[in-house]
Amino acid sequence: TCKASDSQTIVIGLAADSGCGKSTFMRRLTSVFGGNPDSNTLISDTTTVICLDDYHSLDRTGRKEKGVTALDPRANDFDLMYEQVKAIKDGISVQKPIYNHVTGLLDPPELIKPPKILVIEGLHPMYDSRVRDLLDFSIYLDISNEVKFAWKIQRDMAERGHSLESIKASIEARKPDFEAYIDPQKQYADAVIEVLPTQLIPDDNEGKILRVRLIQKEGVKYFSPVYLFDEGSTISWIPCGRKLTCSYPGIKFFYGPESYKGNEVSVVEMDGQFDRLDELIYVESHLSNLSSKFYGEVTQQMLKHADFPGSNNGTGLFQTIVGLKIRDLFEQIVASRAETPVGATKA
Ligand code: ADP
Ligand code: G6P
Repeated sequence: TCKASDSQTIVIGLAADSGCGKSTFMRRLTSVFGGNPDSNTLISDTTTVICLDDYHSLDRTGRKEKGVTALDPRANDFDLMYEQVKAIKDGISVQKPIYNHVTGLLDPPELIKPPKILVIEGLHPMYDSRVRDLLDFSIYLDISNEVKFAWKIQRDMAERGHSLESIKASIEARKPDFEAYIDPQKQYADAVIEVLPTQLIPDDNEGKILRVRLIQKEGVKYFSPVYLFDEGSTISWIPCGRKLTCSYPGIKFFYGPESYKGNEVSVVEMDGQFDRLDELIYVESHLSNLSSKFYGEVTQQMLKHADFPGSNNGTGLFQTIVGLKIRDLFEQIVASRAETPVGATKA
């Protein structure tokens, strides 16, 4: 086959349990790329997002009959997922199945043409080693059980009329498969956004104020981690005071090297929330290696989407930063291809 290596698709994997903020993250990411954050599959001419639920091999009835959940690899067709992601990466269009979340059935397939950036998001982007090897960058959204519960209640009770008991039961029912098949993928992620209950309020169980950690793998090509003040040192920072308005319980940052699942990582952590989003510029000015195009770009992005969930805390901040990092990675890969003769790029 003849393919132009300078147009090869860059593939990003985004893993998380359902209801954990993947679509919100995608909206922030595509906004950084200048796309329309409100359209669905085809977000901009550069980016296509594939929801991996489309590779369910068992539909809702099939899962019921066999007694397997959607999290179970047996309910998913990894051969087809691999074949199609590989084809797209090689510049070949595919007929991708569509899983219909309303009917629980597979709809007729749709044509997916190779975009500049393909994001595969869902439960298993890093589960199958063949698919994993196709990823140029991978992200895992790690929402702790306490916070997951708080978010589910908010959505499923308020918007879908489910009872507290049924939400609890559905989380419990998912747990074994989640722990067996989804959670282990975080060891492969280049960046993990970990969302935990705050430590600023003793024994907080409301799940409103969050402690969010951006765990960045060291030594990943085209990815240079963000840091606070001084690269490689360990820092605890309370920015509240003269330049930043903080009401109870305040804001606390942390930065330092750590080991995570056997990998060297550096971690930036934010506990607490912003009272005034425009003051984020003060925090932004103390972060380095943001891959922004101009001073204040992070703050501008956050202000632009102030209505998205998590805009006043570390979830929005770190999702935005990872978006900038992916844009940087994309630009570096494109630049490196322009310098490399055809055929000499990474296989
Ligand atoms: P997914 O695409 O993974 O199913 P969404 O991005 O649609 O997740 O988010 C699902 C729900 O979770 C949202 O409607 C919201 O209630 C809650 N949520 C997501 N991200 C956050 C956040 N950062 N802070 C608070 N709630 C959030
Ligand atoms: C999708 C989601 C899963 C969810 C499932 C519903 O596949 O990604 O997280 O569990 O739909 O499955 P069900 O068997 O209840 O229809």
